[in-house]
Amino acid sequence: MTDFSATKAMFHLPEGVIYLDGNSLGPLPRAAADRLEQCARDQWGEMLVTGWNKAGWMEQPRRLGDRIGRLIGAEPGQVVLGDTLSIKVYQALAAALEMRPERRVILSDSGNFPSDLYMAEGLIAGLGRGHRLETPPPDEVMDHITEEVAVLMLTEVDYRTGRRHDMAALSRAAHDAGALVIWDLAHSAGALPVDLAGAGADFAVGCTYKYLNGGPGAPAFIYVAPRHGEQVRPALSGWLGHAEPFAFDLAYRPGAGIERMRVGTPPVLQMAALEAALDIWDMVEMADIRAASIALSDRFIAGVEAACPKLRLASPRDGAARGSQVSFHFKHGYAAMQALIAHGLIGDFRAPDIMRFGFTPLYINSDDVERAIAIVARVMGEQLWDRPEYQTRASVT
Ligand SMILES: Cc1ncc(COP(=O)(O)O)c(C=O)c1O
Repeated sequence: MTDFSATKAMFHLPEGVIYLDGNSLGPLPRAAADRLEQCARDQWGEMLVTGWNKAGWMEQPRRLGDRIGRLIGAEPGQVVLGDTLSIKVYQALAAALEMRPERRVILSDSGNFPSDLYMAEGLIAGLGRGHRLETPPPDEVMDHITEEVAVLMLTEVDYRTGRRHDMAALSRAAHDAGALVIWDLAHSAGALPVDLAGAGADFAVGCTYKYLNGGPGAPAFIYVAPRHGEQVRPALSGWLGHAEPFAFDLAYRPGAGIERMRVGTPPVLQMAALEAALDIWDMVEMADIRAASIALSDRFIAGVEAACPKLRLASPRDGAARGSQVSFHFKHGYAAMQALIAHGLIGDFRAPDIMRFGFTPLYINSDDVERAIAIVARVMGEQLWDRPEYQTRASVT
């Protein structure tokens, strides 16, 4: 059994704050601050450029990729880190479209994170070959899987509502229709058990700054199924994806397997922080995380619904159909979230009217949830959100 009191002690959380926003940015693992300082002082400071070899900076994207792979059902050598998630979406989609040259449809859904859709639009425009992006409502995706679809590109857990797609069933249906599948695991990796190999996913991408606690600006990851590893042609053919970067050839030759999905210089300091964050995952069973996350979320839903009739549940009521977040609709959701933050409960707001709360058993326990319910009940019951100071929108919501 995972010892969640031990994992909680490994995070720095500001005094008096209940943090239900690890689905946006995970908090600071205490060891990450030390590792950052050590990497800067002992490696960058003392080794200078020799750190690339002496400290293993160049292999870090693969080394950490293997550790993330363990959490998402991938084998060593199938995941690599780098860039941002939007870039990894572009890479995966470009590669997949090229593997289905006779087809023109990219099927996603209207609940997908806008950046994934924007990257698809940009790629379609750049290719100029008449591809089109379809975005039906999430619960109608299955009906849109036809033999026209080149790629099914979905985010498993909806960033707004927490609704979870059936990864195995949709992947199977896409494959039966001859399409490839890309899964965005931004709200899945570290939140719930993922079995990419079992689901037969072709590509997967995700970020490390949410549930994996790698810190603001932490790199993204990409997975390529081993059956495609040597076929994929990288659209972003940067030098670190070359077979021999230090041969400095004039022509690009893709590296072996997942290496070719690297683009340029890895963010070494960010990787140092992430490496320390990943140490915590060695103490954790994903099944324990999932069970605790559902129990905490169910209790929060029950407590908030009992105390706040104005908040309408936006997430599936069935824990198995949710990721690790709970959302409520409320017309004045932005102001209400500002009021909650001012009273010591941090969640966030997503337009047009969603208040989001993330449940992360690594550092949130049932006492935190009871205190969170009491704060929501007070802010809603006393209509504290109606005060002028909570009405002005900041640039990041
Ligand atoms: C599902 C999903 N896709 C893509 C992104 C964009 O990620 P990035 O800013 O790292 O490119 C996010 C960011 O939160 C996301 O939640």
